Amino acid sequence: MLSPHASLLFLLGAAGFTCAASPDFTSLVNLFIGTASGANGGSGGNAFPGAAIPHAMAKVGIDVDTAPRQAGYIHDNSSITGISLMHDEGTGGNTNGGYGIFPLFPLTDCSFSSCPVAIDSRKAKRAANTDVATPGYFSTTFVNGLKLEATSTRRAGLIRFTYPNPAAGMHVVVDLTHDLGRSFEGGNINLDRSAGQVKLQGTFLQSYGTDNYTVFGCYDFLSPTSSNEQTVVDSGTFQSSSSSSTTITINPNSTSLTFPFTSSPTSVQAGALLSFNSSSGTVLTRFGASFISSAQACANAQEEVPDWDWSAVRAASVAKWQDVLQRVAVEVDLEDPTVVELLYSSLYRASLVPANLTSENPYWKSSSPFYDSFFCSWDTFRTVHPLLSLTSPREWGEIVSAYVDGWRNTGFIPECRANTKAGYVQGGSDGMPILGDFAVKYNSHADELGVSTDDLYQALVDTAENTPPDWYQVGRQNTAWKQFDYIPTAWVDPSGATGLATREASRTLEYALGDFAVRQAALALNKSGADVELYGNRSFAFKNIWDPSVTSDGFSGFAQRRFANGTFAFSPPDACSPIDPTPHSCARGTDNNVGFYESSSWEYSFFAPHSMSTIVDLMGGSSTFITRVDHYFSKGYFLAGNEPSFAIPWAYHYAGRPDLSTLRVRNVVYKNFGTGIGGIPGNDDSGAMAALLTFHILGLYPVPATRQLLIGSPLVSSYVLKNNLFQTETNITVQGFDRTSLSATPAASSRFFVKSITIDGTPNESLCWISFDVITGGGNVVIEVDNDSIGASARGCGNSTNALPDSLESGGFSA
Ligand SMILES: *[C@@H]1O[C@H](CO)[C@@H](O)[C@H](O)[C@H]1NC(C)=O
Ligand SMILES: *[C@@H]1O[C@H](CO)[C@@H](O)[C@H](O)[C@H]1NC(C)=O
Ligand SMILES: *[C@@H]1O[C@H](CO)[C@@H](O)[C@H](O)[C@H]1NC(C)=O
Ligand SMILES: *[C@@H]1O[C@H](CO)[C@@H](O)[C@H](O)[C@H]1NC(C)=O
Ligand SMILES: *[C@@H]1O[C@H](CO)[C@@H](O)[C@H](O)[C@H]1NC(C)=O
Ligand SMILES: *[C@@H]1O[C@H](CO)[C@@H](O)[C@H](O)[C@H]1NC(C)=O
Ligand SMILES: *[C@@H]1O[C@H](CO)[C@@H](O)[C@H](O)[C@H]1NC(C)=O
Ligand SMILES: *[C@@H]1O[C@H](CO)[C@@H](O)[C@H](O)[C@H]1NC(C)=O
Ligand SMILES: *[C@@H]1O[C@H](CO)[C@@H](O)[C@H](O)[C@H]1NC(C)=O
Ligand SMILES: *[C@@H]1O[C@H](CO)[C@@H](O)[C@H](O)[C@H]1NC(C)=O
Ligand SMILES: *[C@@H]1O[C@H](CO)[C@@H](O)[C@H](O)[C@H]1NC(C)=O
Ligand SMILES: *[C@@H]1O[C@H](CO)[C@@H](O)[C@H](O)[C@H]1NC(C)=O
Repeated sequence: MLSPHASLLFLLGAAGFTCAASPDFTSLVNLFIGTASGANGGSGGNAFPGAAIPHAMAKVGIDVDTAPRQAGYIHDNSSITGISLMHDEGTGGNTNGGYGIFPLFPLTDCSFSSCPVAIDSRKAKRAANTDVATPGYFSTTFVNGLKLEATSTRRAGLIRFTYPNPAAGMHVVVDLTHDLGRSFEGGNINLDRSAGQVKLQGTFLQSYGTDNYTVFGCYDFLSPTSSNEQTVVDSGTFQSSSSSSTTITINPNSTSLTFPFTSSPTSVQAGALLSFNSSSGTVLTRFGASFISSAQACANAQEEVPDWDWSAVRAASVAKWQDVLQRVAVEVDLEDPTVVELLYSSLYRASLVPANLTSENPYWKSSSPFYDSFFCSWDTFRTVHPLLSLTSPREWGEIVSAYVDGWRNTGFIPECRANTKAGYVQGGSDGMPILGDFAVKYNSHADELGVSTDDLYQALVDTAENTPPDWYQVGRQNTAWKQFDYIPTAWVDPSGATGLATREASRTLEYALGDFAVRQAALALNKSGADVELYGNRSFAFKNIWDPSVTSDGFSGFAQRRFANGTFAFSPPDACSPIDPTPHSCARGTDNNVGFYESSSWEYSFFAPHSMSTIVDLMGGSSTFITRVDHYFSKGYFLAGNEPSFAIPWAYHYAGRPDLSTLRVRNVVYKNFGTGIGGIPGNDDSGAMAALLTFHILGLYPVPATRQLLIGSPLVSSYVLKNNLFQTETNITVQGFDRTSLSATPAASSRFFVKSITIDGTPNESLCWISFDVITGGGNVVIEVDNDSIGASARGCGNSTNALPDSLESGGFSA
């Protein structure tokens, strides 16, 4: 999603693979991509560069004092307020961000009783160029020479402070109240000095929704190992009722503070201060986090970091990342270094979330895995989940189980659960295409992956049929959907169900895809033919908001809002596009009078990924369609930084012009992505942008809830996809690969147009799509590329009847 501002403007021998040692892919990851400031309406990516394992609950990193700070960190010279235990990846929404809980802050050059514990007096600048971030490790150094380091496991980890002059004091603030959102609503801190342990509980606001959540922390300060003789020499607590206090009295020897729950954030600043004596000049602390209790937070630390062994924790984290990264293997030395850096940095970010909160579910007892940071399915269904489907079904099976378990316990598939609470629904219930995708790809392995397909299917049907009391939190407005076959504008729902009745046009388009996902699951899971037909029929309802009479820039036919009586409600098709001449509100709010969420009719009119032939027809046939896609890009309607634009560079495939998609994808990649801190065109959105770039680099684009991927021209000469369930290694090689094609506008003499595709030695009849079975099947795919000499357009997708990618209306997806 967009930030609020922007939306207004328009191995180590990894387990299982014993072949020749893989290169160390972790060294290729640049964690600072996408960490620029998003201030003043820009979007900095909001990437999180701290210490974390794949899908970690604990994401340890430093926090800046200025907003926006959605991921805590910004790569500028802002002051740092602490190093805290949890963060999100690339989210939009609240510019203050969520999480950033229970920060620590090291202090020196003060005596215990007069240390500056208040947030505004303690905050510090970093010395220039001292930030270091690699998979499993983060470090920075303040201008006063104090060094901060972190490494972590799933729910625990180690933080180390190195003091430049131990004699000047070695103090650590344990901050109870300051999360990124400054949203403390109550909690407590308890200090056991002889045990060297501090336990915390806090209630904070979720960052994208109206609810709060309660989280627990545990810090241990006395390492059991004799190598670090670290003793607590002073301790106490502090509190002030004012968020702007700069001088706060420290109560020596005080061991606890309790703040009763308040229904809105308080301005209290509070925490503990500990002073140390340590022979090494460092203070090492072990932390654990939990959503269950502070005792469980302490137990998590003990379970996951029993020996306080820094190098073991860090090495284990690196090994987990290597295992993830080597599932997309390239020959590093042979490829373009920038592409390699973009690829591995993207693969890294695409596996930071969803977060594995298994055994940390505060709401219901279940043996199912529990995952969180689905922030939001609207962002991630297009690319994050399809990428997991190719290489990582073991993780994906757990995540899909968590979606299904959400339905089992709430009646609906979760949509934007984050900070453990339901967030705002942005459009459709976009867990539906995720579950549909799992059904079509892993139906015959579901048991092994721990997913009940009966429950998965019932979750889809219930979400497609039932309307929750508040469909702004979860589910869909099926009352309207089933009565009208579109979402009417200015309609008062007599059922009493409530929600946010905006985004009528884009919700219609997304509900149609959601129903297609049910149809696909019904087919894959051998449900009744009647179900297949019903949901297939309903998936065509996107046509019901097509107003053929609307024209824009000489093109006719646009998706539009529609009243309950069938009359269309006009909005200018360029409204909410990047070149909207009139200010419009384009987010969720009731001031959105355009009907599209974070996008324009120009852009959303291309949205029917399951039946693109219908869109081609509605737009007047292939040749007009091609001109229209060209115009969408050249006029400036393309909004690279947000999800509704993701598939459009590939749309030419559906008009038999894969050569144009190939050109366009290169153009989009080289104009919008890079290895700098501003290298992501929008918020990373829980890895959605990262997974998108991965697909562009691999020359693939997934069609939601189907076994088809569009295929194009990769930006590497070969890659191997490893699937961790099938234990397959599929080699995709570009024959004739030409590095001169790696630019925004490659010359016609460059070889990068797909000339043939050969699967295990057999030439395939389609140059435009490839099946999931092939891409995960363990064979060899050869993509032969050529320059434009014979006219790439002449080849098209091929001449056979099934050369075009499938569309439901033209008979596709029949099995
Ligand atoms: C902080 O960074 C900004 C932007 O790069 C720069 O203009 C400013 O001078 C810097 N301030 C300090 C104190 O370094
Ligand atoms: C916030 O937390 C309190 C106490 O845990 C709870 O009663 C309340 O329902 C929560 N939600 C909101 C929106 O206040
Ligand atoms: C705090 O406790 C220590 C050790 O028990 C004691 O020596 C010291 O006097 C106490 N400080 C205050 C201010 O009570
Ligand atoms: C700090 O530790 C040193 C030895 O490492 C010891 O000599 C000194 O007495 C200790 N100081 C305090 C206040 O405990
Ligand atoms: C999630 O956590 C559970 C419980 O520790 C563990 O069994 C599982 O392997 C984890 N999954 C991933 C993908 O890390
Ligand atoms: C599919 O369902 C039909 C009807 O319920 C049944 O006859 C058939 O055996 C099923 N096929 C498979 C492969 O399960
Ligand atoms: C699906 O649509 C077709 C064509 O309109 C219609 O004949 C059929 O009855 C519909 N099926 C269902 C289950 O709604
Ligand atoms: C349909 O309803 C809209 C909004 O109330 C109204 O402006 C329009 O005139 C109606 N159309 C017809 C044909 O009644
Ligand atoms: C894929 O196969 C080709 C041909 O055998 C080989 O040259 C290449 O190294 C393989 N690619 C990778 C990434 O291993
Ligand atoms: C494409 O390559 C062929 C063979 O190398 C060459 O003859 C032709 O001129 C090239 N075409 C273009 C458009 O550069
Ligand atoms: C072409 O590839 C698709 C899968 O990508 C496969 O279903 C089809 O059978 C292949 N055609 C031939 C002639 O091998
Ligand atoms: C399709 O047929 C045309 C005309 O016969 C030919 O020029 C073209 O190369 C063919 N395309 C493919 C992919 O075989």
